[in-house]
Amino acid sequence: MALLRLAAHPCLSVFVFLLLLVVHALAQPQPNDAGGCNGILLTYTLQGRDKIRPLVPAPDSQPYAFRATATLRNSGTRPLRSWALLLTFVHGEILVTVDGAVLTSGADLPYNTTAADAAATSLTGYPQTDLLTPIDTAGDLAKIQATVNLVGTLFAGPEPFQPLPSALSLADPAYACPPATTNVSAGSSLSTCCAPLTPNTSTSASEETPRRRRAGDLVITYDVLQAHETTYLALVTLDNNAPLGRLDGWQLSWAWHRGEFISSMRGAYPREVGAGACLYGPQGRYYEGIDFSKVLNCDRRPVVLDLPPSRADDADIGRIDHCCRNGTILPKTMDAAHSKSAFQMEVYKMPPDLNRTRLHPPAGFEVRGASPLNPEYACGQPIPVSPSEFPDPSGLASTTVAVASWQAVCTITTRPASASKPPRCCVSFSASYNESVIPCRTCACGCPASARSTCSTTAPSMLLPPYALLLPFERRAKEALTWAGEKRLGVPNPMPCGDSCGVSINWHLATDFAGGWSARLTLFNWGAEDMRDWFAAIVMGKAYDGFEQAYSFNATAVGNRTIFIKAREGFNFLLRETNMSGVDYPVPGKLQSVLSFTKKTTPRIDVVAGDGFPSKVFFNGDECAMPLRIPSQSAAKRGGIITMLLLGVATSALLLLL
Ligand SMILES: *[C@@H]1O[C@H](CO)[C@@H](O)[C@H](O)[C@H]1NC(C)=O
Ligand SMILES: *[C@@H]1O[C@H](CO)[C@@H](O)[C@H](O)[C@H]1NC(C)=O
Ligand SMILES: *[C@@H]1O[C@H](CO)[C@@H](O)[C@H](O)[C@H]1NC(C)=O
Ligand SMILES: *[C@@H]1O[C@H](CO)[C@@H](O)[C@H](O)[C@H]1NC(C)=O
Ligand SMILES: *[C@@H]1O[C@H](CO)[C@@H](O)[C@H](O)[C@H]1NC(C)=O
Ligand SMILES: *[C@@H]1O[C@H](CO)[C@@H](O)[C@H](O)[C@H]1NC(C)=O
Ligand SMILES: *[C@@H]1O[C@H](CO)[C@@H](O)[C@H](O)[C@H]1NC(C)=O
Ligand SMILES: *[C@@H]1O[C@H](CO)[C@@H](O)[C@H](O)[C@H]1NC(C)=O
Ligand SMILES: *[C@@H]1O[C@H](CO)[C@@H](O)[C@H](O)[C@H]1NC(C)=O
Repeated sequence: MALLRLAAHPCLSVFVFLLLLVVHALAQPQPNDAGGCNGILLTYTLQGRDKIRPLVPAPDSQPYAFRATATLRNSGTRPLRSWALLLTFVHGEILVTVDGAVLTSGADLPYNTTAADAAATSLTGYPQTDLLTPIDTAGDLAKIQATVNLVGTLFAGPEPFQPLPSALSLADPAYACPPATTNVSAGSSLSTCCAPLTPNTSTSASEETPRRRRAGDLVITYDVLQAHETTYLALVTLDNNAPLGRLDGWQLSWAWHRGEFISSMRGAYPREVGAGACLYGPQGRYYEGIDFSKVLNCDRRPVVLDLPPSRADDADIGRIDHCCRNGTILPKTMDAAHSKSAFQMEVYKMPPDLNRTRLHPPAGFEVRGASPLNPEYACGQPIPVSPSEFPDPSGLASTTVAVASWQAVCTITTRPASASKPPRCCVSFSASYNESVIPCRTCACGCPASARSTCSTTAPSMLLPPYALLLPFERRAKEALTWAGEKRLGVPNPMPCGDSCGVSINWHLATDFAGGWSARLTLFNWGAEDMRDWFAAIVMGKAYDGFEQAYSFNATAVGNRTIFIKAREGFNFLLRETNMSGVDYPVPGKLQSVLSFTKKTTPRIDVVAGDGFPSKVFFNGDECAMPLRIPSQSAAKRGGIITMLLLGVATSALLLLL
């Protein structure tokens, strides 16, 4: 027995030891600590809050000043590039200072987190945009972890209630973040561990080092060319990659987040010149020796414009490649040499960045064009990319490499139809086999503003005789009425309103024969400005493959069923509306060309039934309003080729005459 007990004893002790081990393991805070996270650990901690005035009776509406810290730690095996953190605030938080990140939307502080449409507030890393892996950095916290300090105001009930965001996640589709949990022991922090969705591909440091550049409709590149202790020289380049994107008189702005200011600029100039804001600010106190009257701009959010062409060779402010074109940026298909703009500036830094190697780009870029035809852009935050290389200007086979480079990618925001910004151009259809023109849609570019206008904004536009397309809308009513009488068409009461478009485009189906067909495109400028370097794009359906050529425009099939059209060299003006002698109404600027198509490659198309009309038309990048119907061919005439040709000639002659 004693022997047996002796024998059992070691077994028992091993068992007890194992039991203790299991109990110990269960007692560990399992889920949220960094030890349990092999992905990206996100934590939001409310550091404290203090009641502030005004004191209000309703406890849930009482404002408090709060301080909070958000941290992101990469505990995984792949680097997290250009991180963005999503916080869903639910207590009416107003962010007043954000340190370690910027608002991804580029919005200014203070920022009302409930006013924006998006449910979550997105913060992008700044200046630390990337979180490397513990493996690549030997676990260096400074490189694998980012900390964002937030100060703001929130509206909530009294303590000990802890007003935390309702959700916390990464704005990176490559990661899945489970719902955040609160720390039970402290109660004031929220955390979650985001895991990569795709299994870990071996992304070693060497593969990641060259930062890939991204594509986008407009790419802003911020290159630091020379870096000094307190200043640096930056080259800012705007690159247009959108096939139909265009800017006239661009305006670029950004926000300085680290107290920087611009001492000089070449190739562009700030809309406001003056250093008042610096003189009385920390910059003025720090740089006592500087003559601030020579400092160009001290705004926290400067607005920069391109120089006019007359300054291109100015020894003081010009002489920069791609500068000085009045802010005109054209699509690459139109003119590759004019598809980018650039300028240089000298920037002064402030402590604690006074080191040649401490370089931070500004954030919150915004770009827009002066013309209502220009698209609207939304820009992301700048992200570091591999340094740009510049070929030697004197032709030597050497390249100069930038000290550091960043890129902000801007995308054209697709405008919801019939939103605040209506189209600026419209399309009318006509055809040789139908005497009537289908004019632009009623109110295509907006309805008349004046309350006393008595036209109908909903009635469909009335068919017109072809020559009426050359008349200003006010003159067309009489013609439309006479035409309706002749053709026995209905007349809406009240009559439909005009199209209010600055540019209208007529698509006239001119010929349709066994081997091919042709259309005539006419552009009308009803505005008071000449249009320089205009371009148009026509999106065709099945007929696209048969496109041959345009006769007096320079047209190319650029893919995606799109025919890109610009003027031949030397004829790049679409003139404004003018008063002509001999007529008592203003005459629009007009350009015309014939486009020919073959049916060899598209034998099955039915031109008359609709294949001969474009599905979309763009002018200077702006999508034009299309008519809702196409000219039809009366049953009697269908196939009556002689009648059709005769009619076609007559109609063509009319339109050409005027
Ligand atoms: C929870 O809060 C306690 C006390 O503040 C802290 O010691 C612990 O590390 C926190 N745990 C997590 C997972 O954040
Ligand atoms: C923030 O925006 C919301 C929604 O627009 C509004 O109701 C609220 O009054 C705003 N808060 C402040 C302090 O302006
Ligand atoms: C992912 O990484 C972990 C840890 O580095 C490793 O154990 C696992 O096998 C990897 N999975 C794949 C699919 O490579
Ligand atoms: C540049 O803009 C100015 C002012 O808007 C205008 O007068 C000038 O004609 C423009 N120059 C060119 C080349 O477009
Ligand atoms: C500048 O930064 C580098 C690297 O971070 C550091 O080694 C150096 O001491 C700094 N120089 C000054 C003057 O602070
Ligand atoms: C064609 O159009 C589609 C959708 O509009 C777009 O995603 C694609 O990039 C276009 N392709 C080319 C070559 O332009
Ligand atoms: C048509 O455009 C192309 C490409 O931009 C250009 O090379 C060519 O010279 C233009 N042709 C005419 C006649 O303007
Ligand atoms: C055309 O003439 C009318 C009246 O004579 C005048 O009001 C208008 O300003 C003129 N427009 C142009 C572009 O000259
Ligand atoms: C011309 O086209 C319009 C619109 O489709 C149609 O209403 C009209 O009847 C056509 N006229 C003739 C003569 O076919």
